[in-house]
Amino acid sequence: MSDSEIILCLLPSIVALFLFLILLRRKQNQKTRLNLPPGNMGWPFLGETIGYLKPYSAITIGKFMEEHISRYGKIYKSNLFGEPTIVSADAGLNRFILQNEGRLFECSYPRSIGGILGKWSMLVLVGDMHRDMRMISLNFLSHARLRTHLMREVEKHTLLVLGSWKENSVFSAQDEAKKFTFNLMAKHIMSLDPGKPETEQLKKLYVTFMKGVVSPPLNLPGTAYRRALQSRSTILKFIECKMKERLMEGTENIGEDDLLGWVLKNSNLSKEQILDLILSLLFAGHETSSVSIALAIYFLPSCPNAILQLREEHSEIAKAKKLAGETELNWEDYKKMEFTQCVICETLRLGNVVRFLHRKALKDVRYKGYDIPSGWKVLPVIAAVHLDPLLFDHPQHFNPWRWQQNNNHHHRGSSSSSSCYTSMTSHNFMPFGGGPRLCAGSELAKLEMAVFIHHLVLNFHWELADPFDKPFAFPFVDFQNGLPITAHRYVPN
Ligand code: HEM
Repeated sequence: MSDSEIILCLLPSIVALFLFLILLRRKQNQKTRLNLPPGNMGWPFLGETIGYLKPYSAITIGKFMEEHISRYGKIYKSNLFGEPTIVSADAGLNRFILQNEGRLFECSYPRSIGGILGKWSMLVLVGDMHRDMRMISLNFLSHARLRTHLMREVEKHTLLVLGSWKENSVFSAQDEAKKFTFNLMAKHIMSLDPGKPETEQLKKLYVTFMKGVVSPPLNLPGTAYRRALQSRSTILKFIECKMKERLMEGTENIGEDDLLGWVLKNSNLSKEQILDLILSLLFAGHETSSVSIALAIYFLPSCPNAILQLREEHSEIAKAKKLAGETELNWEDYKKMEFTQCVICETLRLGNVVRFLHRKALKDVRYKGYDIPSGWKVLPVIAAVHLDPLLFDHPQHFNPWRWQQNNNHHHRGSSSSSSCYTSMTSHNFMPFGGGPRLCAGSELAKLEMAVFIHHLVLNFHWELADPFDKPFAFPFVDFQNGLPITAHRYVPN
């Protein structure tokens, strides 16, 4: 072949290469023309993760957020959890992210969470499988079940815990709240009775498990994460055992009173899927609501007027029940707890049990002139919106009356029919997330808090026994000393 023939043969490839290089160049130009939000990518790999995760008072947004927002604004870029990330403290962007789940953004928790909660856990699933699991959870936490079955159980477990409180001795309010929510979930999910050896055994395993969920994901001998992985497998064996017991009874005899029975009978999930579903619901349903109850116990003594108004509201309900000869709380009673709903909203707003969510961009997205590149992590920080002075007056102040439409702080007793419900749907208040992944247990969580508060204020007054034990964000919210309190029987005069 002559030289000119060779050139002729190679010509198409050369042209193609040229075209490819031009396209690549253009694409690169486009990328470099991206208008990323300002920010600092920090150290290689570690980025700014250590600063971001440094513990801080839970009623603040922490020094890291404060400094970053004042330097860069409410939307900034960073490198967190080993990935380039856009952090959003912007109410509008947070809503936009959550509402575009599956289209522009997708849930994306760090791999370590999947390792510990399981690959079938609802927190890590996306797409159709997430939808199916969500349907099962929603069905199980349905309004109809809340009104009847769950209402009764919530009250029973509240009374069990409050009934064991000893007067004039110091005890951990956080442990008591955990006992309440754990017992409730264990009963509701697997029909385990409080105080029974197997329930206590599962509770112990769960404590070790939890320590690992919130620790650095180092799977090395002696680490909390390794111990948690071991508890995970023991917990799964425990659940599997329960499953086998049910199946031995024959499918047609399986009761549908608890979640385990319900999924065995009504779903075609595999064994692994059922195990992860049960484990992660036990986790989602007990940690968050117990911290919320502990936060209410912590905030209320600083606001005696709120305790007075709660007592008025709950005494009215209790009196009416006595007159009617009723003993158990019912849904109508719950609907009368309007000021209580304001206290619940305020506790969730100020305490911020879940502070931020993990997402990633599925496409290049443009928002307020900024570009969010496809594949980047996106963290909507819901706590930053709840503590934004432009959106909530004196955000660090516990003020349940802010949730009443007429805002009549100084008019205790002038019950407003507005209450929290309008504000609950308010755009800037998202303690339960939003969009297609809105917390499946939000109604149950509010019911638990309301019923607990009902019996708490009617039967006790309490003081915080350790003035230094404040809620901290690690970033999961916790009282380091367990929120010690002293409680005394309340006798109305
Ligand atoms: C005050 C208490 C609670 C708070 C603050 C809370 C908060 C949240 C938040 C923010 C999410 C969204 C996570 C995300 O989008 O990435 C979520 C999801 C979820 N929560 Fe809750 N939660 C609470 C109580 C509960 C309870 C009592 C249950 C169950 C019994 C529960 C079950 C779930 C489930 C199953 C999901 C996943 C929903 C999905 O992916 O579709 N939560 N929760």
